[in-house]
Amino acid sequence: MQIHSPLIKWEETGQSYEAVWRSPTQAMPTNIVVADDTLSADKAYKLIKSGTGLLWRGDFHNARQLVLALARRLDRKPRGRTPKTGNIPHVQNNTVALTRAAFSQHRATQERRAVMLGRVLLQFEADHSLKLRRAPDARVAITQAWGAPDGNLSVASIKDLQGMIGAHEWQKKGVIIPFLGASIHPHYGVYSPLRGEYIALIAAAALSPEATTLAFDIGTGTGVIAAVLAKRGVQKIVATDIEPRAIKCAQDNLTRLGFGQQIDVVTANLFPPGRAALIVCNPPWLPTPANATIERAVYDPDSAMLRAFLSGLSSHLTPGGEGWLVLSDLAEHLGLRSREELMAWVAESGLRVLDRHDAHPTHPKSADPGDPLFVARSKEVTSLWRLSPV
Ligand SMILES: C[S@@+](CC[C@H](N)C(=O)[O-])C[C@H]1O[C@@H](n2cnc3c(N)ncnc32)[C@H](O)[C@@H]1O
Repeated sequence: MQIHSPLIKWEETGQSYEAVWRSPTQAMPTNIVVADDTLSADKAYKLIKSGTGLLWRGDFHNARQLVLALARRLDRKPRGRTPKTGNIPHVQNNTVALTRAAFSQHRATQERRAVMLGRVLLQFEADHSLKLRRAPDARVAITQAWGAPDGNLSVASIKDLQGMIGAHEWQKKGVIIPFLGASIHPHYGVYSPLRGEYIALIAAAALSPEATTLAFDIGTGTGVIAAVLAKRGVQKIVATDIEPRAIKCAQDNLTRLGFGQQIDVVTANLFPPGRAALIVCNPPWLPTPANATIERAVYDPDSAMLRAFLSGLSSHLTPGGEGWLVLSDLAEHLGLRSREELMAWVAESGLRVLDRHDAHPTHPKSADPGDPLFVARSKEVTSLWRLSPV
């Protein structure tokens, strides 16, 4: 099989080696040193800070301990640094400025942390196994993320491995959706419907008799919204997504739930061909750049998907039809998008608001004062906007 991923190269015991670089989130370190249990956390910290990747040959549990020790060093608060608000353009209100500055600092810190910790590297054998002492057998989890073994050695970070194992656990366990009386099983890299409030909004909003004939679910992810509409009696649903992982995930969930005939899952950039009486979309809600493909379900640079959904909505609705936009206002509390901007895009798209249903998120972060974004999160409201062409 031809490999399109970059190759990572290193020297070890006088020989040259190479492997496929598999990390979905990290830039490949160009300088690699082979490391084991004899490496102190302080020395490791200096190396990762200088951009060096540590290819781990020691005990697997010690590698996990090392990552924790590095994280503690990274999390030490730098002295005397508070977000500066004075030089942020276009912000009149100080509270918003501070939150916006705090958000960009939070993102930058998160990214730096991920990059640094992502420099503790593991080598995966051609069958995706790990040859380290006390290493877990994570071949199923890795195959779900990378596909079947292709005969190549691979290198990725221990953080990547932990992400794949976590995703595999969620896929096995599933997320219970009370309205469906069933679980949805998110795949690796697909947005998980852990926040239940938007599902409750979709389950409760009034459905006109016309809307029960044909609906579109735009950006279906796991397929959860399509499943809720099907359970509510919509006879035919076309669910789209742009990500191949989401398409496969939605197909698996919807088939397992017995909606295979009622719902077509298709790859599309937003809308499928044709028109429907109801079009639902829960787009990514934070208008800032995504650091990796797997973050694209949450981050929508410049609100591009949101705006494209709004501007295309009228031309995909049947007469009298309506669009349901599900959107968190967290971006507004972070000073990243204003309500006025959102309303202007609605109006410019030839739409009007018929109604709005609000829900307060119940996810644990919204109630955690230790979360750096607590002030904004505690005010967050998720709304279902019922929109129709003017
Ligand atoms: C916030 S997630 C929502 C997923 C699911 N509808 C739900 O509510 O759980 C946004 C989804 O939109 C998809 N997406 C992003 N851009 C898209 C586009 N241009 N066309 C179709 N889907 C897109 C993402 O892949 C992701 O699955």
